[in-house]
Amino acid sequence: MNKKIKTVKSLEPWLEKKFKEYKVSVKISESIYRFLHRLRGHVPNLYYHSLGVGYKSVSIGEFEEFKDNKPLLYGGLLHDTGKLRIEAALFQDDRQITNKEYQIIKQHVDYSREMLRDEGLIITSLIAGMHHYFQENPYGLNPADMKVPSPGIRKEKLIDYARIISLSDHHDALMHRKGKFNIDIKDKEAVKRHLLGNYPDSGRRIDFLLSLEI
Ligand SMILES: [Fe+2]
Ligand SMILES: [Fe+2]
Repeated sequence: MNKKIKTVKSLEPWLEKKFKEYKVSVKISESIYRFLHRLRGHVPNLYYHSLGVGYKSVSIGEFEEFKDNKPLLYGGLLHDTGKLRIEAALFQDDRQITNKEYQIIKQHVDYSREMLRDEGLIITSLIAGMHHYFQENPYGLNPADMKVPSPGIRKEKLIDYARIISLSDHHDALMHRKGKFNIDIKDKEAVKRHLLGNYPDSGRRIDFLLSLEI
């Protein structure tokens, strides 16, 4: 297991290290850095959120000794790419959004799916398309409708990747988006109860996320 990451800043060297360790091609790493750079310019917090979800998702994959963590890395880092097509003002944490604005924000999953597909990141685009389907009010690509792009890929595995990213996404939002949830994040039991309410089958993964210090 890696040394514990405690600050969002240290996620940048972590990412560089993972690209090397997983032998990610120059083409893909450049694509990912391009998207991340654009996210940082659009909404800085969204950039750190993307790094955080990549880190948490990959850490779960390593904890469970998955053979291939690259889909978790790419999917975690790029799940919210579609937010680039939505006005940055809608992502200000200190502001209550209207129902109409929420409908606009929800479109980001379809935009992520489209943008990543156009970039040639087919698996990542499917995972990103499903990342809001495991929560209370699901939206985006329904896992039941997802078609695997090649016979060598197991549908259940892709869905599990998306489920991990969804859980990591939720945990990261809890820890870093002030005002979105009415939960004292220092109260680990309260955080656990909240996550278990949304992901009742993921107790072990939730305990693991709670052990991370970010
Ligand atoms: Fe999202
Ligand atoms: Fe997200």
